Amino acid sequence: MTAEGKTASFQLDGATVPFEPGQTVIQAALAAGHYIPHLCYHPEFKPHGSCRVCTVEVDGRTVASCTLQAQDGMEVLSQSDRLRKEHQTLVQMLFVEGNHFCPSCEQSGNCRLQAVAYDLDIMSAELDHLFPNRPVDASHPEILLEFNRCILCELCVRASAEVDGKNVFALSGRGITKHLIVNAESGRLADTDIAVTDKAMEVCPVGVILRKGVGFRVPIGERRFDRQPISAQAREDAPRRPTTGNEDST
Ligand code: FES
Repeated sequence: MTAEGKTASFQLDGATVPFEPGQTVIQAALAAGHYIPHLCYHPEFKPHGSCRVCTVEVDGRTVASCTLQAQDGMEVLSQSDRLRKEHQTLVQMLFVEGNHFCPSCEQSGNCRLQAVAYDLDIMSAELDHLFPNRPVDASHPEILLEFNRCILCELCVRASAEVDGKNVFALSGRGITKHLIVNAESGRLADTDIAVTDKAMEVCPVGVILRKGVGFRVPIGERRFDRQPISAQAREDAPRRPTTGNEDST
C-alpha cells in the first residue's frame, strides 16, 4: 500500500504490476504472471543474484530483478532488444563454462537452463567452449552427481544448509575455477549423510543431482518444458502467494 492507501505498483514493459511491501521485482512479476528469465532464483530461498539471467533495466541501469526491491512507480524493462541480447549472452556463457550435452542428458525437458535457452531462441553457444574436466561422482548407491552441468546457482548448497541442516554441498575456488564440492574428507558423495528425501535433491535447475534408476521414468517429449515454454508456464503458475525476500518458503 502507498501512503494514500492505494496498492503499490510498478511498470514492467508497460504493464502494471502490483506488489506487497518487501517483494522484489521478480517476485511481484511472477506473482502477477509476468515472466522474467531466471535460473538461480527459487521462490523458497532468499535470492542471492549470482546468475544475472534475471537482469532488467531501471532508469537506464541494468540490475538483477531477483534482488531488486520493488518500488512504487518504478519503470522496469525486461524485454528490450538490449536486454534480450544480454540474457542470451549470459545463458550462452553458462553453456560454454560447463559441459552441457542436452541430447544425451536425462534431464532434457526438465532442465531450466535448456528451457530458458529455448525461450530466448538460443540455437548455439556462439562462444568457445571451455570443456572443463569435471569427473562424475557415482559413489553413492542412490544418487549420481554430474558436475559437468553445474551452473553454480548454489541452490543445493542453500537447500542442504537451510532446510536439510546438513551442509552436504559447498562451492570451492574462485572465478573460472569455482566449482561444486561435497563436504566429505574423501570428496565422495557416498561419505556424506545426504538422503534422497533431502530438499537438496529437488532444487537443482539443471542435471547435476540425479536419483539413480528413475531418469527416464517420464519419457522425453512428455516432460515439464517439453509441454510448453518456460515463459508460458510461469504465467500459468501465477498468481503465486506474495512473498517477502526474507521468507523461507512460498
Ligand atoms: Fe537473479 Fe540469478 S535469477 S541473479
